[in-house]
Amino acid sequence: MNYLGKLRLGVNIDHVATVRNARGSAWPDPLRAALLAEAAGADGITAHLREDRRHIRDSDIVALKAGLGIPLNFECAATEEMQAIVLNARPHAVCLVPEKRAERTTEGGLDVAGDENRLAHFVAPLRDAGARVSMFIGHDPRQIEASARIGAAVVELHTGHYSDLHAEGLAEEAEAELHALQKGAALAHSLGLEVHAGHGLTYDNVAPIAAIPEVMELNIGHFLIGEAIFLGLEEAIVEMRHRMDLARGLI
Ligand code: PXP
Repeated sequence: MNYLGKLRLGVNIDHVATVRNARGSAWPDPLRAALLAEAAGADGITAHLREDRRHIRDSDIVALKAGLGIPLNFECAATEEMQAIVLNARPHAVCLVPEKRAERTTEGGLDVAGDENRLAHFVAPLRDAGARVSMFIGHDPRQIEASARIGAAVVELHTGHYSDLHAEGLAEEAEAELHALQKGAALAHSLGLEVHAGHGLTYDNVAPIAAIPEVMELNIGHFLIGEAIFLGLEEAIVEMRHRMDLARGLI
C-alpha cells in the first residue's frame, strides 16, 4: 500500500568532488552537478563533509547552500567541529553518520543505542536551529528505538549490505536483508520517524527498496555519478526516478 505516495530522490554529489580532487583543480564543479540534478528532477542534494575533506570541502557547502533551489541534506559525523559548521550553514537537513578514516565509504550504521546520551545532546541544538535531523542506521530495532528517543525526526536505513548481497547474486540472503529493512521501516514509521534509505543503490537493486511503503526518500550517489559518465547526469537521474516511480506503482 503506497500510503505515503511519491518517493523523494536525494542525489549525493560527493563523487563529483572526488574526481575534482583527484587533480587538485576546480573541476568538475559539485555545484554545477547539483544544479543539473535539480533540473533533472532531484528533490534534494546530499553532500558529506568528511573530517578528512577527501571529497566535499567547506567551500562546497557554502556554495551549495547559496546556489541551490532544493533542500541541502548535509551529512556529517557527530563531532563538535561538524556541529559548529551545521549551525553556521543552516542546511535543511542533517544526516549523522559514523565515520572511520580508513574506510572507503560509510560502512555501517551509527550506534545510536550505544551513544544515546551524547547524541541526544548533540541533536538538540541542530533541531532548535531548524534542521531535520536524520540518523543513518541499520535495521536493528534497538537503533531505531534509540533514534526516536533522542529526538531525531528521520532515520535513514543503510541499504549497503542489501546492495552487496544483491551484487554477489546471493538472492536468498538479499531477500532476508530486504525483509529486515521492511520490518525496520515499519517500526520506525510506527514510532513517528520519517524513513529514508540509501547506500549502494543502483538501477538493478532499487525497486524493492523503493517499494517499501514507509520509505519517503532515497539518497543515491556513487552509481548515479558513475552512470553519468556514460549517459550524462540528467539522463542517469531521470532513469533512476523512472524506476523509483515504477516500483512505487505511480506509472
Ligand atoms: N546515504 C548516506 C547516509 C551515505 O553516507 C551515502 C554515501 O555517502 C549514501 C546515502 C549514498 O550512497 P551511494 O553513494 O552508495 O549511493
